[in-house]
Amino acid sequence: MHQPRYNIYTTIHKALRFSMCETLTALGRVDDRDEKALLLALEATERLLQHCRNHLAHEDQFIHPLLGKLCGGESFTTADDHAQHELEIDELQVQIDEIKTASVQQRALLVLHFYREFSLFVAENLIHMRNEEIDNNQVLWANFTDSQIQVIEQAIVDSIPPEENMETLLVMLPNITHRERVELLSGMQQGAPTEVFAFLLSQLKPKLFVADWIKLTTALHLTNETSDVL
Ligand SMILES: [Fe+2]
Repeated sequence: MHQPRYNIYTTIHKALRFSMCETLTALGRVDDRDEKALLLALEATERLLQHCRNHLAHEDQFIHPLLGKLCGGESFTTADDHAQHELEIDELQVQIDEIKTASVQQRALLVLHFYREFSLFVAENLIHMRNEEIDNNQVLWANFTDSQIQVIEQAIVDSIPPEENMETLLVMLPNITHRERVELLSGMQQGAPTEVFAFLLSQLKPKLFVADWIKLTTALHLTNETSDVL
């Protein structure tokens, strides 16, 4: 069967889509009179916004300069989207701070308003990510081989602290297809230190459905003893 070419955006964007949708729906059901639950939901949102900032910075540093040169400044709109998203993240943070200091009586309306504004941010990001995966990716595919694209991706991964990489992988891996999971983990199985790979699998196991875990361990040729220990 024809093997699809490598799209640098697909798996990290799947992780972001999962986190955005999860955060949004959690904000939709949070009890604004429950201090602890509200604070947890707001802190989770702040962590997601920080991930979004980091993701924008990675693309700005490693991908957009290449696209800028290749497109000669023409029809390259996702760079403008990034500047807009930075402003929106700042504004969402201001609203989070307002909710944290608001009285109990004010909170219900503020949380509902924030939920709606955050939903627009998610919607814009969904459109933006789709455009990157289709339009920007077309430019990358026209100018680079898959191996060259994977070198760019590795430069991004190398620039991120190991703990942050682990955190991202544990959101990404349960939310991508079996084929994508096996591809990603096969590379790590060969390249990463044994203890790091074993730790990753031990953290991943409870996040996967049993059937997916069995398919994964079979595909990676992990022995029964190894997968039992994990
Ligand atoms: Fe982007």
